[in-house]
Amino acid sequence: MGRKSIEKEALDNEDERKTCMQTISLFIRSNWLALIFALIICIITIVVTPIVYSIQHNVNSTNNNDLSWNTKGVTIISQNTLLNGINNSLGVISSLGFDSQSNLYLCDQTMHRILQYSSVQMNLILIAGYANGTNGSDVSSFNSPNDIYIDSSNQIYVADTLNHRIIKRTKDSNQGTIIVGTGTSGSASNQLNSPMSLTMGGDYLYIADYGNNRIIQYDLTTSTANIYIGYDTTQLRNTYVYTPISIRYHSPTTSLVIGQQLGYNVVRWTLGGKNWNLIAGSVSSDLNGTSRTLFNRICSVAVDTQMDTYIADCDNQRIQFFQGDGTKGRTIAGVIQAIGNNSYIFNQPNAIVLNTKLDFYVADSINYRIQMFQRTS
Ligand SMILES: *[C@@H]1O[C@H](CO)[C@@H](O)[C@H](O)[C@H]1NC(C)=O
Ligand SMILES: *[C@@H]1O[C@H](CO)[C@@H](O)[C@H](O)[C@H]1NC(C)=O
Ligand SMILES: *[C@@H]1O[C@H](CO)[C@@H](O)[C@H](O)[C@H]1NC(C)=O
Ligand SMILES: *[C@@H]1O[C@H](CO)[C@@H](O)[C@H](O)[C@H]1NC(C)=O
Ligand SMILES: *[C@@H]1O[C@H](CO)[C@@H](O)[C@H](O)[C@H]1NC(C)=O
Repeated sequence: MGRKSIEKEALDNEDERKTCMQTISLFIRSNWLALIFALIICIITIVVTPIVYSIQHNVNSTNNNDLSWNTKGVTIISQNTLLNGINNSLGVISSLGFDSQSNLYLCDQTMHRILQYSSVQMNLILIAGYANGTNGSDVSSFNSPNDIYIDSSNQIYVADTLNHRIIKRTKDSNQGTIIVGTGTSGSASNQLNSPMSLTMGGDYLYIADYGNNRIIQYDLTTSTANIYIGYDTTQLRNTYVYTPISIRYHSPTTSLVIGQQLGYNVVRWTLGGKNWNLIAGSVSSDLNGTSRTLFNRICSVAVDTQMDTYIADCDNQRIQFFQGDGTKGRTIAGVIQAIGNNSYIFNQPNAIVLNTKLDFYVADSINYRIQMFQRTS
């Protein structure tokens, strides 16, 4: 390389540097407005947003929306709790409920009976089903009942799952009445196939007809049943239900909150509407998992008078809490996929119910105990 060409290269470099500086200053001069704007956006993101967020956070907690609970459960009922005069062992508890006097009821799926806990005597008494814990198909017995609903006059409605019927019991009678179903499974409008859950809204009972993938509406005044949500997979996925395992009526929004076991989600169907909206879980792909938004086998759901949904995520061994629809979940009891019998963990948390103070009770089913989690704020 000759001397001349080295000089030329140096000059060229000098030129390039100058042009570069000129371009930058030209850019700043002609775009100063846009640059100032970008600076303002940066300041808002870094400084203003966190301030506004923390103010909002304070407003929420004064609204009583920021609920929290003790993560340590207290055992209320266990195998050591006396059962008066009946087979002294608990089976798998699949549902819990309170009556209007705040008595706790247990639906014992594998002992085919309904029990009531007396917090005064601290014992359990038989309300319905055979004392010896065997199944049956007459009007005083059940076969694998999965859910109960107790109305304001303390009548108990039982989803008598493997008898494919709904039984109504008044507390002082030793017999029930069949109100929906024929006793054999089927898909006619007067038949059910493994009804798993039920709830009441206004003058209607809504039944999660699991095996038929539909919701049945039973009119309590005319005693007639009709198909409220059917199963038509040619339509959009949010117009039908799939494996409805748990159903609860949410009166503030006049909607049904439905847990779809193999849809791995919980959805809200507003009465009179034509489709559901997602509360939590997989929206379209039947996806299960262990993240904050996913589930592994939903067993039971509960709602309060706000927009809160409590979900027993059984195979993840946890209770998930969702504050509003489509939000991220928070684990309020249990430890993800940890199985055990200390006060922080579960072995299949099958059922959840809230009392009026919003303490929640969990049927820790394979530990054969009922755990109570006290609300702390
Ligand atoms: C109680 O029920 C269990 C489970 O069905 C059974 O194994 C046991 O023999 C029963 N005990 C009595 C005293 O009936
Ligand atoms: C359980 O009790 C019912 C009703 O008394 C009776 O019909 C049934 O035979 C009993 N089953 C057993 C295994 O003792
Ligand atoms: C009781 O349960 C067994 C096992 O599921 C079943 O074979 C039987 O038919 C049931 N009996 C009645 C009366 O429901
Ligand atoms: C999804 O459910 C299946 C069947 O229960 C299970 O084998 C699998 O591990 C679950 N997937 C995740 C990501 O947890
Ligand atoms: C709890 O689990 C431990 C370890 O598996 C076991 O030894 C103990 O008997 C269990 N306790 C109860 C009350 O089930």
